[in-house]
Amino acid sequence: MAAATLKIAVIPGDGIGTEVMPYGVRCLQAAAQAFGLALHFETFDFASCVFYQEHGEMLPLDWKDTLLKFDAIYFGAVGMPALVPDHVSLWGGLLKFRREFDQYINLRPCRLMPGVRCPLAGRQPGDIDFWVVRENTEGEYSSIGGKIFEGTDRETVIQETVMTRTGVDRVLRYAFELAQRRPRKHLTSATKSNGISITMPYWDERVREMASNYPDVAVDKYHIDILTAHFVQKPDVHVIFDVVVGSNLFGDILSDLGPACTGTIGIAPSGNINPDKKFPSLFEPVHGSAPDIAGKGIANPVGMIVSNSVISFEEDKSVWAGQMMLQHFGFHDAAGAMLQAIERVLARGEAEVLTADMGGKGTTKALGEAIESEILSFK
Ligand code: NAI
Ligand code: MG
Repeated sequence: MAAATLKIAVIPGDGIGTEVMPYGVRCLQAAAQAFGLALHFETFDFASCVFYQEHGEMLPLDWKDTLLKFDAIYFGAVGMPALVPDHVSLWGGLLKFRREFDQYINLRPCRLMPGVRCPLAGRQPGDIDFWVVRENTEGEYSSIGGKIFEGTDRETVIQETVMTRTGVDRVLRYAFELAQRRPRKHLTSATKSNGISITMPYWDERVREMASNYPDVAVDKYHIDILTAHFVQKPDVHVIFDVVVGSNLFGDILSDLGPACTGTIGIAPSGNINPDKKFPSLFEPVHGSAPDIAGKGIANPVGMIVSNSVISFEEDKSVWAGQMMLQHFGFHDAAGAMLQAIERVLARGEAEVLTADMGGKGTTKALGEAIESEILSFK
């Protein structure tokens, strides 16, 4: 048995978030059984539109104290746009977690899985396998600015980009360390220093400076416009991409485009990470609450389940530096097994098991349970 218990706050949210979450938890429990991890789950109904309708707020007053007691937050999806405006539901909950828990890394693996049809021609599983690292707290997404002379010919709007040395360096350090642990040891930086002539040259300067600490990592940079073209035309592991790092805005775009290049949004996971471990990190599927298919039981649970193994990869990463937690939680094996289990189930390509977004006619339950029992087979 593991020596310590990992405490996980479960927040299903709205729509398909509530449908995929049970399978995420069951698969984690299966991994815990198979690998002797000690996990403790507690479920919360806040940060959802249902909670909002009842209380007029997305979160209870004591949300921060409540969640601070957990090691990680496992989040489904939020949003009921027909009932609550999206900016209210997103800013009132999930975005507060990201900012107030200083989850300054947004980490998204882009990996072509077996059995998933790639929207790009001629790619096989294994051909695409890289990580996007996005700055998650500053940059272009600042609230500095304003609007004056509204409704007149002189109407003027300004919004400033904020880059701090602390903010830029910490995301770069994380990306370089991730690249250093990967076999190919390659980092790509997203820039636009030809057009954005103050902040982006600064970003480039910090990349150069940080690179001098990691002489074994090969570095290149591309302007964001051609970089997006490369994602589509040559995302392959043997051509360029391994770890790609970008500012808040560029990272946002790349971290949707990357997973989109590997097939359905239904399988993509995302980590919002506070690497300092001062606050809990948050793990979620990339997709939203999908009101168009909510209630039908056909949502793909893989994004939810695989974000478990992002949890595990992340723990694994910290262990790499700190050594002890790997043995502590046995996470390295559990994460690998979970990913293998998903790959095996998808590779079988059974129409009754695969959900509609992957070309099958299976249900959330059928796919979720198939993965769960595959994980248990590692016991
Ligand atoms: P969405 O990701 O919910 O849906 C986009 C499309 O992908 C839909 O056609 C949906 O059916 C499909 N899809 C998504 N996940 C799927 C899955 N697991 N299996 C099969 N098909 C899947 O994005 P959309 O429609 O832009 O937003 C809907 C709501 O979700 C909005 O309220 C939005 O604000 C919220 N949202 C929340 C996010 C979060 O909680 N992190 C992220 C993105 C959107
Ligand atoms: Mg986005």
